[in-house]
Amino acid sequence: MAFPVHRPRRLRRTPALRALVRETSVSPGDLVFPLFISEAIDSPRPIGTMPGISQITVREVAAEARTLRDLGIGATILFGIPKQKDDRGTAAYDPNGPVPHAVKAIKDAAPELVVMTDVCVDEYTSHGHCGILRKMRGSDELEVDNDATLEVLAKAAVVHAKAGADIIAPSDMMDGRVGAIRTALDGKGFEDVPILSYAVKYASAFYGPFREAAECAPKFGDRAGYQMDPGNAREALTEASLDIEEGADMLMVKPALPYLDVLRMLRDAFDVPIGAYNVSGEYAMIKAAAAAGMIDEQRATRELLLSIRRAGADFILTYHAKDVAKLL
Ligand code: PBG
Repeated sequence: MAFPVHRPRRLRRTPALRALVRETSVSPGDLVFPLFISEAIDSPRPIGTMPGISQITVREVAAEARTLRDLGIGATILFGIPKQKDDRGTAAYDPNGPVPHAVKAIKDAAPELVVMTDVCVDEYTSHGHCGILRKMRGSDELEVDNDATLEVLAKAAVVHAKAGADIIAPSDMMDGRVGAIRTALDGKGFEDVPILSYAVKYASAFYGPFREAAECAPKFGDRAGYQMDPGNAREALTEASLDIEEGADMLMVKPALPYLDVLRMLRDAFDVPIGAYNVSGEYAMIKAAAAAGMIDEQRATRELLLSIRRAGADFILTYHAKDVAKLL
């Protein structure tokens, strides 16, 4: 008797056989490349903690958009850094701010490229928190006032939609913000603009490099009062269900790699498209390890993007998008 009878290795014998039976793949169209548009600089400024990534000015946006389109990348997501910040984040809904200007430039240069805009106020507040502050009940400490923040978010969403954004992506983690944004968009005739909710966003150490890139590190305290606790997975289902009830068209899990279990839970529980944000700290780790000669950057990157797709993401926001698209 020939032993063993079952030989999974039969299907691994050649590259062609392996390609034939591969269950999951990553293609450029699944990737979303973040852009940081700053009004506070005159020429591109490399971000030290994110090798290969720079803040750019509105002038560079058109060329960047054409590059992304030509690489077949699915979308871009825009973050704005204004010249002036204040404690109420009013620059977040300035129709002449960096994000509305960048949206228009992209729609002129490469209209096929899907444009998502991040809606949050931390890049626009002088204190760096994702909302309007007030005194905490019974203490002198400050906290983010949920409902006062909703108004600002709704205004910002409308400004982005007016500029031509294809998808509005709120990342602030206020309760009720998807509903508030949906109502505001519908009220201004933007019923057809979808909302991608950062439904499940953890209070993570992996956002460190981004806070340099977007100049939005909180000046005091942290974001644990509004972002999710890393120990919680069931709560992710609650957050996601609420957002869907409020009208979210798509969900996101962020960060990606430390929360692949949560991504899988959401995938099994909901049928809407789900994205995952492979965040700045995850990118920085790969770059640092590769620069130190510790890992093969290209193979490691493809493997980790595959893991995010395998866990259930339809699309991935990642700073690796351009590098990976060039190889695919
Ligand atoms: C908030 C926002 C953050 C990121 C995206 N949107 C930072 C935060 O919550 O502190 C992080 C993205 C990354 O780390 O790549 N506007």
